[in-house]
Amino acid sequence: MTNPPEVHPEPLRARLMGTALERVDAAEKVTGLATYAVEHPVEAPLWAWLVQSTVARGRVAVDATEALDHPGVVAVLDHTNAPKLEDTSNGELAILQDDRIAFRGQIVAVVLANSSEAAREGARLVRIEQDAEDAEVELRADNATYRPDKVNPASETDTDQGDVDAALASAEVVIDQTYRTAYEHNNPLEPHATEARWYSDDSGDGLMLHDSTQGVHSVAKALAPMLGLEQERVRVSAPYVGGGFGSKGEPHAHVMAAALAARTAQGRAVRLAVTRQQMFALTGYRTATISHVRLGADREGRLTAIEHQVQEQTSRLREFAEQTAVPTRMMYAAPNRRTGHRLAVLDVAVPSWMRAPGEEPGMFAGEVAMDELAEACGLDPIEVRRRNEPSVDPETGRPFDNRRLLECLDRGAERFGWSDRPREARRVTDGEWRVGTGVASSTYPAYIQSGNAARVETLPDGRYAVSIGSVDIGTGARTALTQIAADALGVDAERIELRMADSSLPPASVAGGSSGTSSWGSAIAAAAQQFRSDHGDEPAAGLRSEAAPVRGAEADQFAFHSFGAVFAEVRVHRYTGEVRVPRLLGVYSVGRIINPTTARSQFLGGLVMGMSAALFEESVRDPRFGHVVTQDLATYHVAAHADVAGVEADWLEEETPAFTPMGSRGIGEIGIVGTAAAVANAASHATGIRVRSIPLTADRFL
Ligand code: MOS
Repeated sequence: MTNPPEVHPEPLRARLMGTALERVDAAEKVTGLATYAVEHPVEAPLWAWLVQSTVARGRVAVDATEALDHPGVVAVLDHTNAPKLEDTSNGELAILQDDRIAFRGQIVAVVLANSSEAAREGARLVRIEQDAEDAEVELRADNATYRPDKVNPASETDTDQGDVDAALASAEVVIDQTYRTAYEHNNPLEPHATEARWYSDDSGDGLMLHDSTQGVHSVAKALAPMLGLEQERVRVSAPYVGGGFGSKGEPHAHVMAAALAARTAQGRAVRLAVTRQQMFALTGYRTATISHVRLGADREGRLTAIEHQVQEQTSRLREFAEQTAVPTRMMYAAPNRRTGHRLAVLDVAVPSWMRAPGEEPGMFAGEVAMDELAEACGLDPIEVRRRNEPSVDPETGRPFDNRRLLECLDRGAERFGWSDRPREARRVTDGEWRVGTGVASSTYPAYIQSGNAARVETLPDGRYAVSIGSVDIGTGARTALTQIAADALGVDAERIELRMADSSLPPASVAGGSSGTSSWGSAIAAAAQQFRSDHGDEPAAGLRSEAAPVRGAEADQFAFHSFGAVFAEVRVHRYTGEVRVPRLLGVYSVGRIINPTTARSQFLGGLVMGMSAALFEESVRDPRFGHVVTQDLATYHVAAHADVAGVEADWLEEETPAFTPMGSRGIGEIGIVGTAAAVANAASHATGIRVRSIPLTADRFL
């Protein structure tokens, strides 16, 4: 393979961008024709079922005798007979390599059978002997003392500017509080699933996967070296994916289980569907967090010191260090600032990405603390934010391109009816309900990933095929990229055939970090520009160009972040403590909106997920036995339709051409950030009771 030329794409002229083009895959989705990971037609597949450890730490011996006697069961893999991996440095993926149990729910055997039912019954019949050892599974303030080298994705663990202690000692107003957020599990609509087939041809061995993933190339890249294959020999496709929220951003252990099973199955396809219950052990989760925040200010609410120290967890198997205090570094102005992260290293499954990892729990802490500062100074919470608005990025010293937080707050205040709000808490009742309103800021960094490329070629019917391996996990990316491709080539949407979600296509970064549209769209813009310069605008059929985008040097002069303001109305029942959220409004500044329909869905989904975190979501781990007790949607509560009342999203008209040729900055995660704080602040305004941890369960208000 030759590397495509690097092109610095020009800003695109918007014709289709900004219009509400209907989803290009709508018909397939609503008619059931869209094929998800284990729905691809395949001749006589084998079905795999996972057997999991039931202790948190120790050693295992597997007895498959009874399982193998069950009709339809073909094989049982465990650490004694599974194919050996060439690289075991990724402890999460290196399954069935030895008898060690590193967390409860770990894969200790895989049953292969001719039907899903036989595989499941076979798994029940596998006997496992476990030697349990003492395990530590609980995050506490006194065991989260390990200092990681970096926090995700590559940020400093600790920062310290000025003299925070001196500033706090002389501050007229000090807020010094601890905020907690719960463990959460992502729970996309489509559980994780993989179909794997091992094959051999003239070039040697290879692996084909249909995987429910946010990034086909990332899966190939993670698995190939472990299996002793070149990356090109692992082909991954994911034409339709039913959500991920970060949990499908990297392959988890079940994907390796399917790969090892396929290698054993000698050419037969293996289907592995993770159950909802198994997802609570195997497919990632958001760490719980403990944030100690100290703010020093003068009586007018001007910050002199900001400190945010975070404690959270990682797994002994593999380090995952969430960047929870990172947003505090750029949010508000103050001369003295300190942040840090410490981890508890536990005998638990590896934490992972969940929508706005870091920003969501970190901004809960920071934005409730700002509400407490407003209260302590007798100021409106919007005013206290106005007084601490930085002129440049406090972390890097660079100017923002651009920061319109105050405009988001002002527009939201007007639309929400903020001016009628009584300053004091516990002033408004409606029958048996106490009513309050709250506000919080939101932010999310604008990310653009390297390593993307796209290809443009002309088809016999006069249309353009535009290829990039990116995955649409349900966000509408396929539609937004069609609009971008059409504008980049100067044609209508009907003349674009987008080819996506296959690792044989030009490389694409993961659908994560709100970076997809920016990263892939820039690649498409570069490829289209290359094509037009190679072949002009009246090309014959059968011509092609490929390109990778490069960024202009001017991009390094700015700090690129998105901003938003979230407003919530909360009602708390005075006798039962029940909390309802009748109104939520988010106003965002995110760069150009490519498609207002799909963008609105992203914002609303984020707002609902943030409200769900505020009120309901909590994975309860039993500290004695190490498992997540709330391992289904009956006990792990998410916001349902009846919980979602008036949710609205609005945005400022803008574009950021210094960031991407489309002028966009990213929208997938900012909706969840700040929302839990807005709800908690409104609950405090309704009741006069300040709750500093989520979820805000009813008992907290009684
Ligand atoms: Mo998102 S948690 O970066 O997939």
